[in-house]
Amino acid sequence: MRLFVVLLLSLFCSFSPASEVKIDSKEAEYVAKDYSRLIGMKGFNDELLKIHFTLYQGYVKNTNLIIKELSDFRATQQSRSYDYGAVKRRFGWEYDGMRLHEYYFDNLGGRGDPSLAPEVMTALVKQYGSYDAWMQDFIATGMMRGIGWAILCRDNNNGKLFNVWINEHDLGHLASATILLVMDVFEHAYITQYGLDREKYITAFFSNIDWLVVNKRSKS
Ligand SMILES: [Fe+2]
Repeated sequence: MRLFVVLLLSLFCSFSPASEVKIDSKEAEYVAKDYSRLIGMKGFNDELLKIHFTLYQGYVKNTNLIIKELSDFRATQQSRSYDYGAVKRRFGWEYDGMRLHEYYFDNLGGRGDPSLAPEVMTALVKQYGSYDAWMQDFIATGMMRGIGWAILCRDNNNGKLFNVWINEHDLGHLASATILLVMDVFEHAYITQYGLDREKYITAFFSNIDWLVVNKRSKS
């Protein structure tokens, strides 16, 4: 199992937009946040979380590298090159991988008490009939085959809520929708602790949701 995880890590961390591109901390547009406060969270062992933090830091690093590399391409009049296009296509994947992990870690560390998000609960009940009905649909979204994310978001044009499947990091986002709740369902989010029992991980996820954060997002 450990070997499998290491292989996964190497797969997701191996991409380097340009190995020759080096950036120092002053040039970095984005800095990885410290989520060590989550260590000790019930249902998430230390090994699992530390692997996950390392993966997240890889997305931050690669986002910075791509920004630097694209800038270098422009500075040397290579914007019409094949490589410029190839690197630019990669940007959304790395950036969304970074941001979605931040949404995910930020909405963890709570007590899983949805009453702390009264406005969101009112909207969920109005649309789905009950909190439980919404939750079952969110879980079903998270149980879809594949690697990606289950996200609760709101269409700001009409207030309608959607449980959305994001394939990998960058496919399936609803343009202009506000993200309220994010759950990682890549294997690395649970396999070291739960094996292939994704549903058990989802149960642990729900018991640690910080609904205060979700409520705050709903007001933005
Ligand atoms: Fe992840």
